[in-house]
Amino acid sequence: MVNFLNELIFGFVFMMPAFFANAVPVFIGGFGRIDGGLNFFDGKPLLGKNKTIGGLLSAVISGGMAGIALYYFFPNIWGSFPIWLGFLEGFGAMIGDAFGSFLKRRINLKPGGPFPIMDQIGFIVFSFLVVWPFVGINWLWFGLVTLAALVLHVAANIFAYKMGWKDVWW
Ligand code: CTP
Ligand code: MG
Repeated sequence: MVNFLNELIFGFVFMMPAFFANAVPVFIGGFGRIDGGLNFFDGKPLLGKNKTIGGLLSAVISGGMAGIALYYFFPNIWGSFPIWLGFLEGFGAMIGDAFGSFLKRRINLKPGGPFPIMDQIGFIVFSFLVVWPFVGINWLWFGLVTLAALVLHVAANIFAYKMGWKDVWW
């Protein structure tokens, strides 16, 4: 019998670097746009002005540092994975993040505009996929962590709405 709570916690700890990597660029970005201001064939920005090189770097570095910390603090989960895996998780998270922006620009969503589901889980899904060739993939962790990220996001938004911090509940 699978212990779902246990697996959720393990999966969450495993994906910690990706969560870090996704959060840090909000505070540390800049140094120009990743797309260099280029447009796609449709004449619209490739990724847009909010995807910066500084954000990409801070994501990879913070993900990597989180991975190194986890390697020592959670050896029962992380000890069996390479110590550099956090850097790759952070990179994968930013690939997903950039892919989301790419799609958003194609459908005329302004940088910062909401793209439900993709905004919440794109970075995790891509992070899992990018590390897959190196350390394999645990589909149970994949499913549970992705679902948890979605549920946590919605719960946090409803909480912020109830507190009067946001005008809408979503
Ligand atoms: N950010 C950055 N570089 C990145 C990713 C994020 O500098 N590679 C910063 C930007 O300041 C961005 C903020 O983190 O505004 C929030 O990131 P995100 O929600 O992913 O981007 P959006 O502003 O929503 O832009 P988009 O519509 O392109 O997703
Ligand atoms: Mg956004």
